[in-house]
Amino acid sequence: MSVERINVELGDRSYPIHIGQGVLSNAYSYLEPHLVGRRVCILTDETIASLHLQTLLSALEGQGLRIETIIIPPGEREKSFERLQTVLGQLLDANFSRADTLIALGGGVIGDLTGFTASILKRGCNFVQIPTTLLAQVDSSVGGKTAINTPAGKNLVGCFYQPKLVLADTDVLATLPVRELKAGYGEVLKYGLIDKPDFFDWLEAHGADVLAGDPEALAQAVSICCQAKATIVKEDEFEHGRRALLNLGHSFGHALEGLAGFDGSVLHGEAVSAGMLMAYEYSQSLGLCSGQDVERVRAHLLALGLENLETLPEIVRADPDALFAYMMRDKKNKDEDLALILAKGIGQAYVEPQADQASVRAYVHAVCEAR
Ligand SMILES: NC(=O)c1ccc[n+]([C@@H]2O[C@H](COP(=O)([O-])OP(=O)(O)OC[C@H]3O[C@@H](n4cnc5c(N)ncnc54)[C@H](O)[C@@H]3O)[C@@H](O)[C@H]2O)c1
Ligand SMILES: [Zn+2]
Repeated sequence: MSVERINVELGDRSYPIHIGQGVLSNAYSYLEPHLVGRRVCILTDETIASLHLQTLLSALEGQGLRIETIIIPPGEREKSFERLQTVLGQLLDANFSRADTLIALGGGVIGDLTGFTASILKRGCNFVQIPTTLLAQVDSSVGGKTAINTPAGKNLVGCFYQPKLVLADTDVLATLPVRELKAGYGEVLKYGLIDKPDFFDWLEAHGADVLAGDPEALAQAVSICCQAKATIVKEDEFEHGRRALLNLGHSFGHALEGLAGFDGSVLHGEAVSAGMLMAYEYSQSLGLCSGQDVERVRAHLLALGLENLETLPEIVRADPDALFAYMMRDKKNKDEDLALILAKGIGQAYVEPQADQASVRAYVHAVCEAR
């Protein structure tokens, strides 16, 4: 199977994404044109280090590079000021320069933390993403959003900082726990539901192959998603408009995650799957999309064993007022308005900057109380 190349076109900040099998073991050939200095630091977590770091190190050895590694514990908790400070301290102590290259080898946690670190280290150093989860390959490694969490909420401190290169090796997904693969699939499905009805059809036929780890199906899904994300990011890099479509299911989803307490009981992609179904159900309640469309979404989630509101822990349904209040604090909102991504059908999502708050609240009450 050949390796596919997709370009994210952003003028002088454009960069390629290479997708396919064996990309990690050939990392040097992809990396070489993007190196400025000869020093490289790989930031990863303990789990990924035990599985995939050696493959990357072997690929980079013998090329005259000075290679360092920073290995942190896994988990969302690491996207913190404390970890950022420690990592920056390690890099500064080692006199890491702007010309040197910071490589994120990991999921969205590592990618977001490394990207933010790279953006502020000496006002910005060279930065490469090597995503190792399905979620990171189809979403977080592309588009340049970086962030850490604070006690006030997730991803509230960060910036836009594009990588120089993204290497998505679909082989590394073989070691990903099924639950993580399914969570990432939520973001895959999102692209079909936003504006790719043909891709939704394809997922209805091949989604099970993607989740079974079929290499062709995985590579095809990752390519289609990266192309879709690259197109949206090119049109609206800083999320003034269209890029907000990528938040389909996320206003409901973030609230579900928030109520669960970010303790791992509800993964981001699980909340997004349930949140997308809620966005479709709410759209139907306004007469925007048909009941058949909602049923297709629900049937797909059920067929693949993905999360919906019923399958999430009871705590997310226990307090509809708290769920609604969480949605009102979403980053997309302006002034006192509630911004939502709604749908007129499968693949026909649009941004509604001023959703009707009374009907959203009523819908949230109705679904929580019915289940
Ligand atoms: N920047 C963006 O645009 C963007 C978009 C979506 C999500 N995010 C962020 O991404 C994060 C979630 O990312 P995630 O879902 O990748 O989670 P994650 O980074 O926490 O990874 C999930 C788990 O899988 C393990 N893992 C990673 N790769 C593995 C592999 N190949 N084999 C075995 N285990 C592996 C990790 O150690 C971790 O325990 C959140 O913090 C979210 O806010 C960012
Ligand atoms: Zn997401």
